[in-house]
Amino acid sequence: RAAAILKELEEKCATPIGKLRHVADAMTVEMHAGLASEGGSKLKMLISYVDNLPTGDEKGLFYALDLGGTNFRCLRVQLGGKEGRVVKQEAEEVSIPPHLMVGSSHELFDFIASALAKFVASEGDDYQLSVGRQRELGFTFSFPVKQTSICSGTLIKWTKGFSIDGTVGEDVVAELTKAMERQGLDMRVAALVNDTIGTLAGGRYNDNDVVIAVILGTGTNAAYVERAQAIPKWHGLLPKSGEMVINMEWGNFRSSHLPMTEYDHTLDVESLNPGEQIFEKLISGMYLGDIVRRVLWRLAEEASFFGDNVPSKLQVPFTLRTPDMSAMHHDSSSDLRVVANKLRDVFGITNTSLKMRKTIVDICDIVAKRGARLAAAGVVGILKKQGRDTVAGKQRTVVAMDGGLFEHYTIFSKCLESTLSEMLGDEVSSHVIITHANDGSGIGAALLAASHSQYLGIDE
Ligand code: BG6
Ligand code: GLC
Repeated sequence: RAAAILKELEEKCATPIGKLRHVADAMTVEMHAGLASEGGSKLKMLISYVDNLPTGDEKGLFYALDLGGTNFRCLRVQLGGKEGRVVKQEAEEVSIPPHLMVGSSHELFDFIASALAKFVASEGDDYQLSVGRQRELGFTFSFPVKQTSICSGTLIKWTKGFSIDGTVGEDVVAELTKAMERQGLDMRVAALVNDTIGTLAGGRYNDNDVVIAVILGTGTNAAYVERAQAIPKWHGLLPKSGEMVINMEWGNFRSSHLPMTEYDHTLDVESLNPGEQIFEKLISGMYLGDIVRRVLWRLAEEASFFGDNVPSKLQVPFTLRTPDMSAMHHDSSSDLRVVANKLRDVFGITNTSLKMRKTIVDICDIVAKRGARLAAAGVVGILKKQGRDTVAGKQRTVVAMDGGLFEHYTIFSKCLESTLSEMLGDEVSSHVIITHANDGSGIGAALLAASHSQYLGIDE
C-alpha cells in the first residue's frame, strides 16, 4: 500500500521537460494578458511606478522597513554616491508575534512603527542626516498592492500567513504614517515597494545586468523590467527611461499544466486563502513542509506506515516546517540520524527503520524538486517575455534571487539552477546568471527612497 501511495505521488508530481515548457509558455501568455488589462489574468502584473533603477549616485541617510517575510526588519544606510557607495549600514530583525498576523491592522502597524521608532532612536553619531531634513524611508511591503504612486498604494489582499481585517483596500503608507505619528516619529515614506522590486533595485545597484528578481521564501514572487510601451493597461505618461518595473505576483499563477495532487487540493481548501496563490502553494517555504506532512499522514492512515496508531501530531497543520524538511532532505549520515531526530522532535515518532527514513527523504525530494522545477519554468516564462530566452544578442541576463528557501534549501536552489540550464540549453544558459541578492530588498528599498527623496536636486 505504501509503495502505491508513493508511486502515485511521484507520478502526479512529475515535471518532465515537456510539461515545464507548457508551464513556461502559459506564464508568458498570462503575463501578456495581465499587462493588457486590469483583471485580465490571474497574474496581476502590478505597475510599481519604478521606472528608474539605482545608478550608484544615491547619497545620504535613508531607512528601510521590510514587512512580509518570516521576520520584519529595520535598516539604515548611509549612501555615499558613486565613490562612497554604501558607507555603512545597520539592520535589526524582529520576529512578528503570530497573533499580530491575524489580529487588527492598527495593532500590526503600531507594532512595526514602535520597533522602527526604537531603531531610529539608536542611531549613532556616525550616521549623518543633512541639517533640517526629515528622515526618509523605503517601505518594503511584501503583499499585492495596487500602487497609486511610488509612495502610496492600497492592499489588494493578504497572502502567506497574514489575514487581518480592515486593511484590504486601505493605503498601507497612510496606515504606517499614522502609526509613526502615534509613536512621535517624524519620518516620510518616500517609496513603497514589494520585496521583489526591492531585490531588483538592490541587485541592480551591484550589477547593471540585473533585469529579473525572484523571491523564494515564505512566499514566492517575481518582478522584472518591462518596456513601458508593452503595457497596454498603463495610461500614464511614458517614462523617460522607456521602462517600468512590474511586480508579477506570480504566486497567484495557475494553469492546467501545473502538476497537482490531492495533498495540494486539501492544503489549498484548508488554507487562509482557498483558491488563491496556487503556484505559491506548490513552491514556497510556507507550504513545502506541510505537503510532506500530508503525505506522511496518508501513509500513516492508509498503510499503517508508523504502526497501528496514527501519530496525532501528523494531523496538525504546519507542524512540519520547511526548514525541518530541508534538514531531513540534506541528511548525509549513513543511518539518516537527522531524519530520525526530526521525526522524534516534530511528531513524537520513534523507532523508525532505515527503510522508512529513506522513504521520507524520497518524499522530500519529490516535493522540493517539483517546486524548484516549477520556479525555473516561471523564470523561463519571464525570459521569453523579455526575448532573452534565445541566443540572439547574447546579452548577459542576471536574475537576483533572495528569500529563506533559496538561501538555505540547497537542494532546492541547485535543482532550480540545473533545471534552468536544462530548459535553456548550454548556450543561452551561459548568459543567464543567478545571483543571491542577500537582503537586497532592504538596501533596494533604501536606494529607491533615495532616488525618490523630496530633497532630490537640492544641493547639500
Ligand atoms: C529577504 C528579503 O531576504 O527575503 C525580504 O530581504 C523578503 O524582503 C524575504 O521578504 C523573504 O524571505 P522569507 O524566507 O523571510 O519569507
Ligand atoms: C507573496 C506576496 C508577494 C511577495 C511574495 C514573497 O506571494 O503576495 O507580494 O512578493 O509573497 O515574499
